[in-house]
Amino acid sequence: MMDDPRSYYSVLGGLDYMIPDVAEPVIRQVLAAKASVGDKPTVLDIGCSYGINAAVHRFPLSFDTLRRRYARRELVELSSDDLLRLDAHFFAAWPDRGLANFIGLDISEPAIRYAKRVGLIADGVVADLEENDLTPEAARIISRADVILSTGCIGYLGETTFRKLLASMDRRPWVVSFVLRMFPFEGVAQALNEHGYVTERLDGATFIQRRFRNCDEFEHTLQTLAALGKDTHGLETEGLYHADLYISRPAEDAMELPLCEFVTIASGRHRSFGPRYVQVETDEGTLVTLEP
Ligand SMILES: C[S@@+](CC[C@H](N)C(=O)[O-])C[C@H]1O[C@@H](n2cnc3c(N)ncnc32)[C@H](O)[C@@H]1O
Repeated sequence: MMDDPRSYYSVLGGLDYMIPDVAEPVIRQVLAAKASVGDKPTVLDIGCSYGINAAVHRFPLSFDTLRRRYARRELVELSSDDLLRLDAHFFAAWPDRGLANFIGLDISEPAIRYAKRVGLIADGVVADLEENDLTPEAARIISRADVILSTGCIGYLGETTFRKLLASMDRRPWVVSFVLRMFPFEGVAQALNEHGYVTERLDGATFIQRRFRNCDEFEHTLQTLAALGKDTHGLETEGLYHADLYISRPAEDAMELPLCEFVTIASGRHRSFGPRYVQVETDEGTLVTLEP
C-alpha cells in the first residue's frame, strides 16, 4: 500500500465502497453498550488500513467526504509528507465524538504509519498473523483491546489470526465482524467458542460493502454464494456485495444483554440529506439547529 490513502480512496471510492459508513451506527451502539459498564473502551481495528473506521467513528466524516477531500486537485499534487502533515491538522480540527480509543493492526506498514502519524489510532501493530506469530511488543499493544472490530478484511485474514489474538490476551474483548456473505465465519466463531464466546449473527439486515468491479467478479461471487447454498436473489444479484454482521461475546455477556437490546438498524441513515433539524447538547442545555 502507498504512504498515504489517496489511491485507496480513489480506487475503492470509485466502486462506491461504503462499509465503514454503514457499519458506523452499529459500532457506535456496541461501544455505547460497552462503555456503559466500564471506562472508555479501546477498539482494536484489525485490517484497519489507514484508520478509516476510527476517522468515521470519531469525527463527523464519512468515507465519501474523505474520498472527495483526497480527490481535490490541490491535494492530489502534494507529496505524501505534506499530505500527512495537513491530515494531522485536518483530523485534529474536528471535535472528537468517539466513544472509544482506537488501536489498529494491519499487514501494511505504510497504512499503520499514516494512521498513527495523523492521530487516527493511538497505537498500531504491523503484522500478518496468518503467516507469523505476534511479537511480545505487538501482544502488549493489543492486550488493551476491549473490542475487536473488522470491516472488509475477513477473507484476507480469519481463524488463524483470531486464535493468535485470543491466545495472547488476558481479557476477552467483544468481537464485531462485518463479513462478506461469500466468506464463511464458522472457523472464527469456533475459535472464539473455544475461549467461551457466543457468536450471534444479526438477523434480517445486511450491510453493503461496495458494488462489483466487473462482470467476472459479479459472476464469480454469485457462483461462490450458490455453492455455499446462499440465496443471492435481491441481494448480490442487484450488483452489490453484502456483508453480514457477527457479534461475538463471552457467553455471560451475551446472556446478560441480548443483541436486540443494543443494536438497531435505521436503514438509510448514512445517506446525505438536505437541511434537517438536529438536537445539540450544549453547556446551556439542548438546542435545536438546522444543519445544512
Ligand atoms: C479492503 S481493506 C479494508 C480496510 C478497512 N477496514 C476498511 O473497511 O476500509 C483490507 C485491509 O486488510 C489488510 N490485510 C490484508 N491481509 C491482512 C492480514 N493477513 N493481516 C492484517 N491485515 C491484512 C489490508 O492491508 C487492508 O488494509
